[in-house]
Amino acid sequence: MRNRRLLKSGKIDFFKAIACTVLCTAGVIATSAQTAEQTWLNYALTGRVHPLTPPAIRALGDSQLEQSAVHELERNLGSRAGGSASGPGLSASARADQGEQTIVGTAEEVRKAFPDVPVPTDLNAEAYWIAFRHVREGDQKDLFIVGGGPAGVLYGTFSFLRYNPAIAANRLFHDEGAWGESPAMPIRWVDEWDNANGTVERGYGGPSIFFEGGHVRDDLSAVGEYARLLASVGINGCNVNNVNGAAPFLKPEMIQGLKRIADAMRPWGVRLAISVDIASPQKVGGLKTFDPLDPAVQAWWAAKVDEIYATIPDLAGFTVKADSEGQAGPASYGRSPADAANLLANALAPHGGVVLYRAFVYNNHLDYNDLKADRARAAYDIFHPLDGKFAANVIVQIKYGPIDFQAREPVSPLFAGLEKTNSAMELQITQEYTGQQRHLVYLAPMWKQVLDFDLRAENRATPVKEIIEGKSFGRPLGGMIGVSCVGRDGWLGSPLAMANLYAFGRLAWDPNLSAEQIAEEWARQTIGTDPQVVATVTKMLMQSWPAYEHYTGPLGTQTLTDPTGSHYGPGVEGSERNGWGQWHRDDAKGIGMDRSVATGTGFAGQYPPAVAKMYESPATTPDNLLLFFHHVPYTYKLHSGETVIQYFYDSHYRGADEAAQLVDEWETLKGKIGPGLYDDELVRLEYQAGHAIVWRDAIVQYFLKESGIPDAKGRAGHYPGRMEAEDARLTGYKVIDVTPWEDASGGKAVTCDASSAPKGCSAEWTYTGKAGRFGIAVQYFDLQGGVAHFALNVNGKAIATWAADAKLPSRRPNGDNSTRFTTPDVELKPGDVLRVDGTPDASDPAALDYIEIESAAPAR
Ligand code: GCU
Repeated sequence: MRNRRLLKSGKIDFFKAIACTVLCTAGVIATSAQTAEQTWLNYALTGRVHPLTPPAIRALGDSQLEQSAVHELERNLGSRAGGSASGPGLSASARADQGEQTIVGTAEEVRKAFPDVPVPTDLNAEAYWIAFRHVREGDQKDLFIVGGGPAGVLYGTFSFLRYNPAIAANRLFHDEGAWGESPAMPIRWVDEWDNANGTVERGYGGPSIFFEGGHVRDDLSAVGEYARLLASVGINGCNVNNVNGAAPFLKPEMIQGLKRIADAMRPWGVRLAISVDIASPQKVGGLKTFDPLDPAVQAWWAAKVDEIYATIPDLAGFTVKADSEGQAGPASYGRSPADAANLLANALAPHGGVVLYRAFVYNNHLDYNDLKADRARAAYDIFHPLDGKFAANVIVQIKYGPIDFQAREPVSPLFAGLEKTNSAMELQITQEYTGQQRHLVYLAPMWKQVLDFDLRAENRATPVKEIIEGKSFGRPLGGMIGVSCVGRDGWLGSPLAMANLYAFGRLAWDPNLSAEQIAEEWARQTIGTDPQVVATVTKMLMQSWPAYEHYTGPLGTQTLTDPTGSHYGPGVEGSERNGWGQWHRDDAKGIGMDRSVATGTGFAGQYPPAVAKMYESPATTPDNLLLFFHHVPYTYKLHSGETVIQYFYDSHYRGADEAAQLVDEWETLKGKIGPGLYDDELVRLEYQAGHAIVWRDAIVQYFLKESGIPDAKGRAGHYPGRMEAEDARLTGYKVIDVTPWEDASGGKAVTCDASSAPKGCSAEWTYTGKAGRFGIAVQYFDLQGGVAHFALNVNGKAIATWAADAKLPSRRPNGDNSTRFTTPDVELKPGDVLRVDGTPDASDPAALDYIEIESAAPAR
C-alpha cells in the first residue's frame, strides 16, 4: 500500500502548487494574489496560447465588456513566444506580418463596420458568433468574435480561447467556417454563503473574498478575478452573502460596500445579487411587523430597493431563504411563500430585478416516530399549491433533490410541480456532503443525471434541463444556481475541486454537454495539454463521484454522515431519531424509508404518474435509489442479484479500492505535470484513500452488527494484520469509547492526557506474523485544538515521525478526523516490537485507533 501522508488542509498552498510551478517560471503573474490564471485560465501552460488569434486585436465598441474581451485575448497572447505558435495555414508571426486582425464587437457594430460579414440576424444579447473572414484589401483574413451584445462578445472570446486549437480550427476552417452558441438559460448564478465577519458557511476554501470584520473588504482584487473566472464559463450573476442572517446587509453602510463589489464584478458581466432576510423591515427598518401584506412593510421594501438601485443600478436581484432552519418567514403571519416572494418582486420589478425564492422550506422538528412524516415531501407540499401565484419576476429556486445535497437523491418532484411558475435548479459546488474538497469528487456526472432525468410531466418528455431552461412549460425565466462558497485559499481550497465550478458554469450554459467532455476541457486548460495528462485526469474525475458514493452511502441511503454535526465523516445513526428528517430508518431487520403511496409517506406520489409508478414499487425502483423509496429487509435481492447487505459490504470495499486507485492513477503523471501540483494533489489523494478506509470500516462494522449477517466474502469484521490500540501494552494511554462507536475499529481508541502524561504515551505490540517487507498503517485521530506528534518505532528504533496538524472537523476522536499514516516498506520478523509514541498537544490527545500491517509490499 501507499504512504498515506497527512492532509494539512489550509496549509498546502494551491497557489504555490499551480502558480509557482507553472506561472512563476513563465514569469507571467505575481503569485501573492489570488488570480484566475491559477486555475483553468492558466495561459502559461504549454499549448494554451491560442495560435489562431491574429495578434492585432481591435474592439469596435468601447463597452467595458468588449474591453475585457480584448484584454483577455491579449493576456492569452501575452506569453506567446515569437513565432512559436502555429495554426492551420499561417504561423502566428506570419499572420502578424500580414496584418491580420482579431476584431471583437457586437453584431450591430460589426454590421456597420463590415457590411459584408454575414453576422447571423438572430443573436441574442449573450450569444456569439465566431468566424474568419476576408474583408479587407490584400490576403488578410480577420478573426471576428461577434456578440449579440457586449456580453456575447465576452462569452465568444472565452469560448474561442477555451477550445483546443485543433477543435477551433476544425470549426473555423472545415465545418461551416464559423461557430456560434447562445446560453441555454438566462439565470446562471453562483451563490456564496459568506458572512459579514469573513467566515463562509459550508466554505472549505478559506475566508471570504468579499467580507472581513463586518464589512466589505478593502482589497477586492480577488473578487474581480473571481468574476473573470465566472464570466469565462458564462456565469452572469453572483449572490454574495449567506442566505442565513442576511438582515445587516441592507444597512446603508453595507450597501455602499456592496456597490464596490458590484463595481469589481461588472467588467465581467457578473451582476451582483444579495440574500435578504424577509424580516428586515423589523430587524433593520424598525417596523413592528414584517407581514408581507402590510402596506407599511411594502412601502419599506419599495424604498429600500430604490435606495439600493440608486447605488447599484444593475443589481440582479434578491435570494430568499424563509421559514427554514431558523430563518423567519411569511408563515409567522399565516402568509404564503408567494406573498413574500411577490412583496419583493413588486419592489424589484421597476428596476428589472428578480427574486430567487428558495423552495428549501421545511420543518426541522419532525417526529421520527411518525412513519408518515417526511421532509422530502415539504417543498412540493408547500410550493405546488402556489403554482401560478408568483409574480413574473419570481423564480423558485429548487435544490436538485428533495433533501439536501446528498451523494445521491432522486430529482425533486417540484420541478414538474410548477408549470406556471419560473423555476431554477440549485446545485452545490462546495462539497458539503460530498467530501468537503478534501475528497476528490467531480460532481458533473451527478448533475448530468439530474439534468437529463425525464420527469414525464403531462406524460410527455420533460427532462429537468428543459424545465429549467423554460422550454417545457414555456416559462420566460429559469436557470441554474451553484452554491459555490469560494474563499481566499485557492478559491475552493483544492486544485481539482475547481473542476466542479468549471463544470457548473459549462452545464448552465449548455446542459447537453457531457460530464466527460467538460472534465477533458478543464484538465487540458488547467493541468496540462499532454494527451496522457488530459486522459488520466479526465478518467480520475469521472471515477470520483461513483467511488465516493460507494464508500459513503449507496443504494439511496444518502451520505451516511451526521446531519447535526460536520456533514463529513461517517455517522450512521446521526441522521436518525432527530427532527431533521434525513432518515434512512435502519433496524435489525432492514433499512430504508418507505416513501410509497400505498404504505409509506406518499412522497413517490408527488411525481408525475409514469415516474410515480416507477418509484412506487421496489421492483421497479432503480437499485441506486431503492432505500430512498423503500424499507426492505437486508436480505432483499437487488436487480443485480445481490442482497442489500452484501451490496453494502461490496460497495464499501469497492469504493475504498477505487479511492486507492486514484492515487495510482495520479502517480502515473509524475514528471508530466508541475511538481508543486503533483505533490499537493498526491497528499490529498493519499489522505482520501485513507479516509475512504475509515468510511468503509465504519459503515461495514455498523451494519454487520445491526444485521448480524456476515459478509459472504469474509471481509467485514476480519482485519488480518490489524492490532487494536486498546489491546496494546499501554504506557500512559487510556482506553476510551469512541462516539459514534462505528468510527473506531472495535468502537474503542486510546487517548493520552497531557496533564497526567506530559511527556507522552505509548502503545506497544509484538509482531507475530510472517517475516517480510510490509507497509505499516497507523490509524490515529487528528484533532483540532493542538498539534500532537507521533512516532512509529520498530524494536526501539523510530522509523517514522509525523505531526497531527491537519485541519479536520471535530474536537472529539471520531470519523471526521480519523487519519491514516502509512510507512511503506518496513522489514518485519516475528517477535519484533512495534511501538507508537504519541505526544499530546493542548487539546489534541494523540488518540490512536490501531496499527495495521498491510498485506502487500509497497509498490514504491
Ligand atoms: C444545508 C446547509 C446549511 C444551509 C442550508 C441551506 O442545510 O447545511 O448550512 O444553510 O443547507 O441551503 O440553506
